[in-house]
Amino acid sequence: MTLPLSKRSSTLSPFHVMDILAQAKALSQQGKTIYHMEVGEPDFPTSECIVNAGIDALKQGKTHYTPALGLPELRNAVAEYYDRKFSVTIDPSRIIITPGASGAIQLAMTCLLDAGENILLADPGYPCNRNIAQVLAAETIAIPVGAESNYQLNADLVAKHWNEKTRAVMVATPSNPTGTLLPADQLIELCQLIKKKQGRLIVDEIYQGLVYDVEDHTILEFSDDCFVINSFSKYFGMTGWRLGWMVVPEGYVDTIDRIAQNIFLAAPTVSQYAALTALKAETQIELDRRRDEFKQRRDFLLPALEQLGFDIAVKPQGAFYIYANCERFTDDSFTWVKQLLNEQGVALTPGIDFGEYLADKHCRFAYTQCLQQLEQAVDKIDAFIKR
Ligand SMILES: Cc1ncc(COP(=O)(O)O)c(C=O)c1O
Repeated sequence: MTLPLSKRSSTLSPFHVMDILAQAKALSQQGKTIYHMEVGEPDFPTSECIVNAGIDALKQGKTHYTPALGLPELRNAVAEYYDRKFSVTIDPSRIIITPGASGAIQLAMTCLLDAGENILLADPGYPCNRNIAQVLAAETIAIPVGAESNYQLNADLVAKHWNEKTRAVMVATPSNPTGTLLPADQLIELCQLIKKKQGRLIVDEIYQGLVYDVEDHTILEFSDDCFVINSFSKYFGMTGWRLGWMVVPEGYVDTIDRIAQNIFLAAPTVSQYAALTALKAETQIELDRRRDEFKQRRDFLLPALEQLGFDIAVKPQGAFYIYANCERFTDDSFTWVKQLLNEQGVALTPGIDFGEYLADKHCRFAYTQCLQQLEQAVDKIDAFIKR
């Protein structure tokens, strides 16, 4: 008997990395050492002070719903964080606490897109964006981006692909999977163009804080007119706590409140109390130390991969990913990644998970393992290439 399923759910694309994870698990059960470079989350545990704040909240019985837009003290603390870090003043009423950046993306797209309308996205890009749009019966226009635009959308590309059904554009800086940034001047140009077209720009800043060599920015320094998504998952090391936030332009808050009430009611209460500690200046000292460790890992891995023969056209300056061209070794990166795992125990994410553009020639390395593991993984990849 065929299950009754909506077309929207049955045609959602799976993550190929799940196959890789299942294969890695099976190999690990056979006793093989696995080098996990496919994982998109920090390897560090959540900082002790944040964990303790969560435990205290539980002990104090903070286990009920919060308002749908989030705990008022957390919304204030996020505003203070922007003030301290970027010297920008944000009215806390524009800050919405969400279940991860994932919750924020759902809210933003639900708020901006009707069925049949479209949003412009970069290819390669974070795969859930197009799937969330699909769940809403909205469409995505995936714009191929390469080294010439820093693997990012820019005003020219957006102008070229905009059509009468386009309502929004979404960018991520730093980006997943490429770790590249959108420079401030290009972001401002993008904002201006989209405003002229009466659309909305969504900027995913989930990897903010994990920026190396260059100054960290938020689009909020330059514009109040965008939807800005952020999260406690990456820089704050709280993936499993499922907490994020979004800053929205004035006028959208009541609508977002209604959508949030209906979609998830509120973000997890314990996580919100723990996040108050995550945002404290003292906690940031430890988080910045972790950021410095990520930088050290990138500084090891990038030249090591280049030496092996991978082509990395733009130096990643943020997040914890390297998106490498592997066409010197294969024109089918998914099969190649599976063989690499099988033979040498190194798990990567194939390009196909991030879109279609040159996907077969790329794979993503996540440096979410300690330096020693990365060194061993590089030796294993070397042996695989030379076999
Ligand atoms: C670019 C980007 N946006 C959003 C998310 C969702 O993150 P979360 O829901 O854990 O905050 C991720 C997760 O990897 C991501 O890479």
